[in-house]
Amino acid sequence: MSTFTIDTATSRATPSPVPGKRMTVPAIRARKQDGRTEQPIVMLTAYTMRMAQLLDPHCEVLLVGDSLGQVIYGLPSTVPVTLEMMCAHGAAVVRGSWHSLVAVDMPFGSYEGSLEQAFASAARIMKETGCAAVKLEGGEAMAPTIDFLTHRGIPVIGHVGLTPQAVNVLGGYGARGKSVTEAKKIVSDAKAVADAGAFLIVAEGVMEEIATKVAREVPVPIIGIGASAECDGQVLVTEDMLGLFERTPRFVKRYADLASEIGAAAGRYADEVRARAFPTAEQTYRPKS
Ligand code: KIV
Repeated sequence: MSTFTIDTATSRATPSPVPGKRMTVPAIRARKQDGRTEQPIVMLTAYTMRMAQLLDPHCEVLLVGDSLGQVIYGLPSTVPVTLEMMCAHGAAVVRGSWHSLVAVDMPFGSYEGSLEQAFASAARIMKETGCAAVKLEGGEAMAPTIDFLTHRGIPVIGHVGLTPQAVNVLGGYGARGKSVTEAKKIVSDAKAVADAGAFLIVAEGVMEEIATKVAREVPVPIIGIGASAECDGQVLVTEDMLGLFERTPRFVKRYADLASEIGAAAGRYADEVRARAFPTAEQTYRPKS
């Protein structure tokens, strides 16, 4: 069952209630011209309607990342994340945004089996959420899948370098590209993914020098996370950036300290409840005098 409402300004059935139009795949792709991106692309993760509403005016792309496995569901990795989770959260983020392009991660096990499996999963995500693109992890090995999807109406964001869904093969979440062989592989992976038709590529956990090389040599915009300021844009997990977790990777910069603020607010509430200082006359219903 579809859970979204179309809100593009071009829909006759449901004209957009807001001015302007969502960012489109061609508009995002066109931000990089002749190997240069004048204005870096701003991407953040979002998993819920309210967070999408708050982030939307500041971003070009909202990514419904499978990092929701750890951030929302407390799972040990992204491996157990399901299509159902991605569809439910993807639909919520589309409902909470009107400006950003919304892209949804394809979860582990939903696309690697065959081209047909990848198409069925991606089509389901797009139908059930209303998102404009999907993201999948992997380099050269995934190029045929990206080609298959993009030729069938499904815009794809690639993801190279540290690919968290492969944590069991990689053995951890350390930065990639430390050896010459690994560095060369990251560059050839990014080129293969771009040649296959990806309109954007996330480069995660990559040595700065390699990320810069990828950004300079690959024609499509490269979005860095733990990569390089030379990338064509940046993405962070929003909850990391807002300071909701005490432990974060080295590449995260905290722009707020929400964990402390939430703890302090919950503490004040608890104190007032225990002291019967909440609710007061202002928060209770009384007969009108
Ligand atoms: O799942 C995710 O949030 C991601 C970003 C970290 C790029 O893939």
